[in-house]
Amino acid sequence: MSYTLRSAQAADWPAIADLLTRAELPLAGAQEHLRNFIIAEADGEVVGTAGIEAYGSAGLLRSLAVDPRQRGQGVGEALVNQVLAEAANDGITEVALLTTTAPDYFPRFGFEQVERSALPAQLTESAEFQGACPASAVAMLRQR
Ligand SMILES: CC(C)(COP(=O)(O)OP(=O)(O)OC[C@H]1O[C@@H](n2cnc3c(N)ncnc32)[C@H](O)[C@@H]1OP(=O)(O)O)[C@@H](O)C(=O)NCCC(=O)NCCS
Repeated sequence: MSYTLRSAQAADWPAIADLLTRAELPLAGAQEHLRNFIIAEADGEVVGTAGIEAYGSAGLLRSLAVDPRQRGQGVGEALVNQVLAEAANDGITEVALLTTTAPDYFPRFGFEQVERSALPAQLTESAEFQGACPASAVAMLRQR
């Protein structure tokens, strides 16, 4: 499969929401941060997405999902690397995430599991912290 990465546009929201829903990831707060979402596109279809919520020098990586038919081909990795590169460009020095499904996926990008209380305080503004993500979710942090 050949695919391209690009910034999400408002018109991509229905396809992104569909992907997130099928991956059982929260929608709350995602549309508000759409300008910081990347999509992977193949044959005009959205096959993957990842986003970052920016809070000053801290960012929350969220909504990483790849269409089940296109998994295992590096799309997820390309999306994470792109989101992290853009975050660094924007002066974000700490990127956190909450996950119930993929704590073993993220160490390869430099994320380490931490106590939720160790995450940058600004992130508690995020809908994910306001209840969209279960309390049992693993917190991870990447500092550079
Ligand atoms: C996690 C996800 C985005 C990975 O996408 P992908 O395009 O298949 O990932 P890549 O091709 O870059 O990487 C594949 C590798 O990651 C591993 N991997 C995939 N999902 C994983 C998970 N949930 N936990 C641990 N490892 C995982 C695969 O086993 C494979 O390992 P290998 O490189 O040793 O063969 C995709 O599985 C997905 O959409 N999952 C459902 C949504 C989800 O859990 N998102 C994370 C929420 S924070």
